Amino acid sequence: MAVRRPLVVGNWKMNGLLADGVARVRDLCTRVVAEPPPCDVLVCPPATLIAPVAEALRGSPVLWGGQDCHAEDKGAFTGDVAVAMLADLGCRAVIVGHSERRRDHGETDAIVCAKAAAAHRAGLIAIVCVGESLADRDAGCSEAVVGGQVSGSLPQGASGANTVIAYEPVWAIGTGRIASAEQIAAMHRHLRGLVRARIGCGAGDMRLLYGGSVSAANAAEILRIAEVDGALVGGASLKINDFLAICRSCVAA
Ligand code: PGA
Repeated sequence: MAVRRPLVVGNWKMNGLLADGVARVRDLCTRVVAEPPPCDVLVCPPATLIAPVAEALRGSPVLWGGQDCHAEDKGAFTGDVAVAMLADLGCRAVIVGHSERRRDHGETDAIVCAKAAAAHRAGLIAIVCVGESLADRDAGCSEAVVGGQVSGSLPQGASGANTVIAYEPVWAIGTGRIASAEQIAAMHRHLRGLVRARIGCGAGDMRLLYGGSVSAANAAEILRIAEVDGALVGGASLKINDFLAICRSCVAA
């Protein structure tokens, strides 16, 4: 049986200025070193804070990554960030296809797939986000929608070593509304089957995260569900006590 080390990702979204962002990771790092949680810990600050966060975390067990990247390696793409720039700052991973980017920037599965491929070229882990809307869920087509996103967003060569899938039902993000344990378990079983069909041997190595209103209060229940290998955490990742409590709720592989 595959042994997947749990992963907890803090997605700060568009939050944090220099002083408070650096103070937050210093605090996180000190406490992770003092009492290591049973998981990999990764923070994804906004692009402006990646360099100072990298400076503060270099050599520590806490990893850092980007929230987005461009699919092209460089060029005339004003405002965008290339994967080589992230790798240059020591990033280990990049989130692609977050539902806020799919919604606000018109990112399709094909764009997400190209971004994930770019991440792989740069040696970064692509954290590929998928998730259904409330209308999809109410219409009973969550599994079909997520299945389509997985097949359209995972690039050739995706493996457990270079790709993580984050299942985030759109209706659970930032709403305080959490999917039930049964809903999460069913979707993660479905995802494992999709990954198995897609990459076959080694499918058991790919980590599948849950995201959407994960908190210190609900993390233990979510993280003990079979096939849930960690969490993608938004709001609660800005509060170190809460974020660490989530990390410590992981069940060691
Ligand atoms: P949330 O965000 O934890 O604030 O719901 C999760 C995410 O969007 O990654």
